Amino acid sequence: MLYKYLPQSFILLVFHFISSNTASKCIFSRTIYFGGFQQQLQAEAWGRDSLRIRLSPNVIIQTPDYQALLPEKPAIDELDCQQSNGNTFINGNLQFSISDDNTTWLIERQSDGLHLIQTQSITFSPYNYPLSVYSPVYTLYNLSLRYIHVQYGYLYGLGEHHYGHNLTLPYRDFHLPFVFSSTAPTNGDITIPWYVHTSGFGFLWNQPGYGSFDVRDDTEITWTANATHQLDIWITTIPKEESLSSLIYPLLMKNYVDVVGHPNPLPHFASGFWQSKNRYRTQQELLEVAKGYYDRQIPVSVIVIDYFHWTSFGDWQFNKTCWPDIVQMMDQLKAYNMNLMVSVWPHVANNSENFMFMNTTGLLTHDANGRTMPTNENLYISDEFNPATRQFIWDRVKTNYFDYGIKIYWLDADEPEQSRPDLQWWYGRHDDEIALAWAREHQRTFWEGLQHELPKEEIIMLSRQAWIGSHRMNVAVWSGDIDSSWEELLKQIKVAQNVALSGIYWWTTDIGGYRHAGLSDDEFQELLLRWFQFGAFCPLFRLHGERYPPLPNDECGFSGGHNEVWLFKYSSQIISIIELRESLRDYVEYHLNISAENGTPLLRPMFYDFNNDDQSYNAEDQYMFGTDYLVAPVYAYQVTSRSVYLPKISQRNSVWQHYYTKEKYQGGQRYTIATTLYDFPLFVKVSSNYATID
Ligand SMILES: *[C@@H]1O[C@H](CO)[C@@H](O)[C@H](O)[C@H]1NC(C)=O
Ligand SMILES: *[C@@H]1O[C@H](CO)[C@@H](O)[C@H](O)[C@H]1NC(C)=O
Ligand SMILES: *[C@@H]1O[C@H](CO)[C@@H](O)[C@H](O)[C@H]1NC(C)=O
Ligand SMILES: *[C@@H]1O[C@H](CO)[C@@H](O)[C@H](O)[C@H]1NC(C)=O
Ligand SMILES: *[C@@H]1O[C@H](CO)[C@@H](O)[C@H](O)[C@H]1NC(C)=O
Ligand SMILES: *[C@@H]1O[C@H](CO)[C@@H](O)[C@H](O)[C@H]1NC(C)=O
Ligand SMILES: *[C@@H]1O[C@H](CO)[C@@H](O)[C@H](O)[C@H]1NC(C)=O
Ligand SMILES: *[C@@H]1O[C@H](CO)[C@@H](O)[C@H](O)[C@H]1NC(C)=O
Repeated sequence: MLYKYLPQSFILLVFHFISSNTASKCIFSRTIYFGGFQQQLQAEAWGRDSLRIRLSPNVIIQTPDYQALLPEKPAIDELDCQQSNGNTFINGNLQFSISDDNTTWLIERQSDGLHLIQTQSITFSPYNYPLSVYSPVYTLYNLSLRYIHVQYGYLYGLGEHHYGHNLTLPYRDFHLPFVFSSTAPTNGDITIPWYVHTSGFGFLWNQPGYGSFDVRDDTEITWTANATHQLDIWITTIPKEESLSSLIYPLLMKNYVDVVGHPNPLPHFASGFWQSKNRYRTQQELLEVAKGYYDRQIPVSVIVIDYFHWTSFGDWQFNKTCWPDIVQMMDQLKAYNMNLMVSVWPHVANNSENFMFMNTTGLLTHDANGRTMPTNENLYISDEFNPATRQFIWDRVKTNYFDYGIKIYWLDADEPEQSRPDLQWWYGRHDDEIALAWAREHQRTFWEGLQHELPKEEIIMLSRQAWIGSHRMNVAVWSGDIDSSWEELLKQIKVAQNVALSGIYWWTTDIGGYRHAGLSDDEFQELLLRWFQFGAFCPLFRLHGERYPPLPNDECGFSGGHNEVWLFKYSSQIISIIELRESLRDYVEYHLNISAENGTPLLRPMFYDFNNDDQSYNAEDQYMFGTDYLVAPVYAYQVTSRSVYLPKISQRNSVWQHYYTKEKYQGGQRYTIATTLYDFPLFVKVSSNYATID
């Protein structure tokens, strides 16, 4: 290949547009020349009040296989498109124009003339790679896009980030490298390259490769892609007939799911309580816990078998010594009305019974010469970009789990763990170019497999990673191995809200946090109780953790301390929270059905529903759960009150009612709300005409 030694100084700037043509009223396209090279610009209507803009230094505008946008172009109304004076292209309420000297792009909103984005520089430079380990399918470039938000405001979304910024809800002076787990010591951070802006627009970086995002001084944005063939972005705004005083976020989220895919309704069985810990070692241990819940009549939707129930990484099967009779186990769980989730990792060890086959048929990660590359020592990652890999893994999972009636998979540890400069995926795709889409391909293995067996309404999987598109494959996300601390609880309350605006609709944390705490610690016991109050008001309600001290090892290995609710100091309060969640399952499912319909998340920041109320932007430690519940979790030890902002409700005669005390409050001000260990500030929007809500 020729691209090997392109000089570093060869920087292509998008400055000289010398020809122009229009293929259709809804596509604005131009050929650009510089340095003897041609480039192609294409801005096109892509959904209502939205534009997709691509710029290719290779002349050919590409539609990549692995992208955030659905490959099908959404239906558009030709009547919304307009092109004028050669430099301007309009779709609905969004206008794209190029300056006369061809140096900048300006994106503005028609209805109020607001300038949203003005580009500062678009730079393609050669992508340097060692040819010995990389054989490109086409030329890749290293890309940087810098622009300013002309309007002042804040941005939200970008995925799940509990490290690396100051945990205000908006991202301010934030550097986000797109590398798995780079911002977290272990895991629990997810990059979703999409944000919504308070001035009423949303921006999507349609690239699944490594790169970065930076925001400076709230207005200056830089995106980079280490290896891409073109610039590819999507921008959306509110319709003409709406103004900034409308509810702008539901409008933006609707446009977003229309182009990246809608989530599906949550399976009914998934909306109750999930019991989990690191780890039940044997069939007997698991069934004793299940019986414990059943005997106490504490309803459990899903009970969980964690890692190392298997023989070897990549065997995808139970160790029969510790799990001797899966048929009997499943019968028993069915009698208890519990579903089972089983952990499945993407790793393959060199002593797995599947290793030889996978290695010789190219199903594992490899370099350009086909040499299989371990991710560490003797562990390999499966290359699920390859359809043959997805088929192979699903066949193993089907035979060893699904055929026993196990239909929920926990896709744990599904980051390829570390970036590999010399790693190449199926079909010659370099890691730098498509790595972030790997998690979605892993999930696709299960999504495609399960869809042959079950209706969509019965599919759910739980994953630690996600990318745009995971949500349409019934992937739920939990926030990884977080600390058991008050500080982390507050972080998660905030993380949840950015997650929601990122289009991750099914989400949960480890109630109590994952690590560093045990039942002998009184403070931890109170943390567990408070975390349950938060957990019941997350889309999924799930207990998990590695409690301290561990149980003594037995022949089936190690296990963390006990994690069953009747052993907790505040078990009676916790059991009433489980009952409260039971009573809300219809409500949860109803609101997740709304997510499926129009992209509005169940759990959302205050300003999502109370956009006109400036105070709602500052009430970051509370949130809305559907239209009716306002949740203000308690996140400090031994407190007897907390401050809660109750926004003004626009519906006449509506007030906030404290769920526990039944006291009613007028919206539009802050209150100090008392709390005991039997309640927390949970408010329901009610008509003041009704006496009570229960
Ligand atoms: C900008 O692009 C237009 C259209 O291709 C071209 O006619 C014009 O000469 C360019 N202007 C400059 C200053 O390069
Ligand atoms: C990308 O470009 C930047 C500067 O433009 C350079 O520092 C960097 O090494 C390039 N990265 C790769 C992978 O080529
Ligand atoms: C957090 O805020 C402090 C004080 O404003 C600042 O010095 C620090 O750089 C910020 N950290 C991050 C990661 O933004
Ligand atoms: C991407 O490029 C940046 C800048 O060249 C570099 O620091 C980073 O390590 C690269 N990331 C990966 C995952 O290769
Ligand atoms: C299954 O587990 C037992 C007990 O831990 C262990 O001795 C045995 O080696 C395991 N079997 C396989 C095939 O891994
Ligand atoms: C994997 O297969 C390749 C040949 O395709 C072989 O060279 C290599 O030794 C195998 N790796 C292991 C660990 O067996
Ligand atoms: C697996 O890999 C380890 C570490 O490289 C090596 O010591 C061991 O011999 C390998 N085992 C097999 C069965 O190839
Ligand atoms: C949610 O949608 C599903 C599928 O359309 C439907 O079966 C279910 O009844 C709905 N649930 C609620 C609570 O509306």
